[in-house]
Amino acid sequence: MKVVLIGDPHVRVRGERVRGIDSAGRLDTCVARINAIAGDADLCVVMGDNVDVPSEAAYRTFLDGLRPLRMPVRCLLGNHDDRAIFRTVQPDLPCDEHGFVQSTIETDACVLVFLDTHKPGSEAGEYCARRLSWFRRTLREAGRKPVYVFMHHPPFRTGFFIDHAGLEAPEALVRAMTDAGTVRHVFAGHTHRAASGCWNGLAWSTLHGIAYQNDFELLPAKPNYRGGPAQIGVLLLDGGESVLHFQDSLEPYPCIAYSGRSLREPGPA
Ligand SMILES: [Fe+2]
Repeated sequence: MKVVLIGDPHVRVRGERVRGIDSAGRLDTCVARINAIAGDADLCVVMGDNVDVPSEAAYRTFLDGLRPLRMPVRCLLGNHDDRAIFRTVQPDLPCDEHGFVQSTIETDACVLVFLDTHKPGSEAGEYCARRLSWFRRTLREAGRKPVYVFMHHPPFRTGFFIDHAGLEAPEALVRAMTDAGTVRHVFAGHTHRAASGCWNGLAWSTLHGIAYQNDFELLPAKPNYRGGPAQIGVLLLDGGESVLHFQDSLEPYPCIAYSGRSLREPGPA
């Protein structure tokens, strides 16, 4: 299974900029790049902060920007989002029984689980008892299949400034994951930085945003922002195996054509 990840697009209505960046234009560039390099993907996941300042107009700009994608899309909610407005512009958005934007995609080989960590009015995220009960039930229903979890707020420490606004009180969520024994890899947005690690025996990854980046400054520094590189993640899942590739979508560098024999071509050793 091939899954494209887009981090933190922070789309604003056309003509408005975020930190000097035309984020709607960035999404256009990113979508064209995805179709060019991974148009055969099975799914695209937008890792939250879909818009910068929530309004119906901003969400329509965001959804219009995604429309050219050749694969289905699943969106998380971030701290910059608004659950009610997002649901208003997408009445058929998959949600759990309490109205949280949580859902699953199950294949023969694995289960993808999309969590809603949005906490209204807060930069940090939360995962309340009602959401947790849905997650525990979902893990039970997944049986022994490998599970991949997608969420905006990291429940793990990254060493970046964003840790001050990660997922509040993540212990119960962590326990649900480790109790199940089937969660293989956790993917998060929010950091605007690519990083990976292992926490509680689980692999985790984050990626750059496509609108702007946090510069490389570890805690306790507060980083400046950078206008790039915008980044696409291409995640390959095969049963219990996961590989995440990173590709800059702005591509400011010249492509150097390989002039030798392809390593895949048969020939003398
Ligand atoms: Fe963000």
